[in-house]
Amino acid sequence: MANQEDIFKKVISHAKEYGYVFQSSEIYDGLSAVYDYGQNGAELKKNIREYWWKAMVQLNENIVGIDAAIFMHPTTWKASGHVDAFNDPLIDNKDSKKRYRADVLIEDYVAKIESKIDKEVAKASKRFGDSFDKEQFLSTNQRVVDYQAKADEILKRMAKSLENEDLADVKALIEELEIACPLSGSKNWTDVKQFNLMFGTKLGASADSAMDLYLRPETAQGIFVNFLNVQKTGRMKIPFGIAQTGKAFRNEIVARQFIFRMREFEQMEMQFFIKPGTQMEWYEAWKEKRMKWHLSLGMGADNYRFHDHEKLAHYADAAADIEFKFPFGFKELEGIHSRTDFDLGNHEKYSGKKLQYFDPEENKSYVPYVLETSIGLDRMFLAVFSNSLQEEELENGSTRTVLKIPAVLAPNKVAVLPLLKRDGLPEVAQKLVDDLKWDFNVDYDEKDAVGRRYRRQDAAGTPFCVTVDHQTLEDKTVTIRHRDTMEQKRVKLSEVKDIISKEVDMRYWLQKIQ
Ligand code: GAP
Repeated sequence: MANQEDIFKKVISHAKEYGYVFQSSEIYDGLSAVYDYGQNGAELKKNIREYWWKAMVQLNENIVGIDAAIFMHPTTWKASGHVDAFNDPLIDNKDSKKRYRADVLIEDYVAKIESKIDKEVAKASKRFGDSFDKEQFLSTNQRVVDYQAKADEILKRMAKSLENEDLADVKALIEELEIACPLSGSKNWTDVKQFNLMFGTKLGASADSAMDLYLRPETAQGIFVNFLNVQKTGRMKIPFGIAQTGKAFRNEIVARQFIFRMREFEQMEMQFFIKPGTQMEWYEAWKEKRMKWHLSLGMGADNYRFHDHEKLAHYADAAADIEFKFPFGFKELEGIHSRTDFDLGNHEKYSGKKLQYFDPEENKSYVPYVLETSIGLDRMFLAVFSNSLQEEELENGSTRTVLKIPAVLAPNKVAVLPLLKRDGLPEVAQKLVDDLKWDFNVDYDEKDAVGRRYRRQDAAGTPFCVTVDHQTLEDKTVTIRHRDTMEQKRVKLSEVKDIISKEVDMRYWLQKIQ
């Protein structure tokens, strides 16, 4: 079996080969951690955004969407805490001159301990077969218990040191664990320093009147500063939510893993405004709701898990990640944060404007609490794309590469293929394209043998192929082939649209979460 690194390399090369993701400015040798989406990638990204928007905005009467500007008044970032606290603890290796996030080095060390636990579990499960009780094994096997205790102890100490800004202890922990530079193997480290992740820029032409701005590092603040505008003009009653999608920018130091960690990326965020004191109920409710959204795509329940934060961000009183099993292991895909009244309270303080809600039931005004759901669109793209890319052994001994993107998200829903380039078949096929294109993105392909064309569409992720042949001319039927099962059926030309609609319609997929 291919190892994780090989699988991930395949994901990256396939994304390029099939027009999904390109390195930015590739002809100039690229720009690190910045990517462009190609003809298929732009469609997949749009479909994921729409799937989120529909679930969050269209299907919830009490959630509305906005589109705030990327540039915001610079005081926004003082109020939000980003100027003072949006830092990563960095450490340099003196020999390789490589810079790392100190917390990531420690977390990677812990991940290795956790993979040892996974190996013990797999071994025991094989040994005990059906009678294996995983929970019992995890709590009683001495080796596993010791591994877990060590992992917990390391994470607890790191969280405490970071919380107390005790960067000397973070370095001490790296040295005690004898963590080596992954590149050079050297343990010769500098001190740990804080580094702010926001990109600065200037507004205005002349040097003395120009205003220092930041490119927004999260979309959330555009929602907070518009809280009252939306609440009043939309006559919104608590609890209610404001959602938006848009670009965010972070000067990530450890920018690696393709589109997992980018310097320019897109977020899909929703801030839910609630009565103070109700945040834990809403926290649990949104964790469940968001997990259901993910599961509705059918990418396998085993590929998701919750991870409760040990170290809370400067604004949160509870936080959890939904983690996804990427080719390089379980990593954060989405965050659910209970942000208290931190943001609105601080914007009140810094702007001098009241950001309160009059609650008719309570007959009083208060600064609402906020429950946030925040997911990276690019990271969701990577989850979908990497999970969908599969090599399948076929019955005849050959293999096929297939991109099993959930049909609702696939860039092209159908490819129309005339069996031959003559006898009037292309004309009938083109007529079908002209009819279907009002409802779906359609690809027309007449080059090469039909078997090769099927493989090409499988690898590009197209869920249906419709083949027009000589029988079509006689009885107005075509062959429809399903990407995942490779099953082929003869159907009437007039039925094609309905067959595809049923499987790609968002209603069919999103009904599962209602
Ligand atoms: N408003 C809260 C917030 O921004 P976050 O945990 O920093 O919270 C939320 O980011 C989500 O944004 C993450 O779960 C991830 O999916 C995505 N994200 C964050 N940084 C990213 C980056 N550098 N590249 C791609 N996606 C990123």
